[in-house]
Amino acid sequence: MEKDQIRAFYRAALRAAEKSYSPYSHFPVGAALLLSDGTVVTGANIENRSFGLTNCAERTAVFTAIAAGHTTFKALAIATPRSDYPVGPCGACRQVLTEFAPPETPVFFGSNEDELVSTTLGALYPYDSLHELVQ
Ligand code: THU
Repeated sequence: MEKDQIRAFYRAALRAAEKSYSPYSHFPVGAALLLSDGTVVTGANIENRSFGLTNCAERTAVFTAIAAGHTTFKALAIATPRSDYPVGPCGACRQVLTEFAPPETPVFFGSNEDELVSTTLGALYPYDSLHELVQ
């Protein structure tokens, strides 16, 4: 992806963070998934007073896309506007993402568009267990 394309894609994640429901952590997160047809599906973290039932932005985006019938993801962007360093996806989200996206999928994350970490799903989740079971 071109630099401008990445920045615009990241901004979709940043806008999604505005929809975050995070009254407990006050830590909004937005995620954006690029589909093969160029459509972008977004999600935000949704917390719960039980704490344990909190859903991360990345999984919100994945589940929203899958529920709408989209199964092929070309890239992921994550925005954590309140952090002072780039925050990558949690372990649970990495596992869920690898169900639907191959290791070479680009992943961009950061608290602002000028300081983005650019990596891949495979780098974030190496030695993926039982990957051969994924159809
Ligand atoms: N969170 C995400 O949404 N994605 C991440 O990758 C890291 C953590 C959320 C969960 C919780 O609502 C808040 O950030 C603080 O952990």
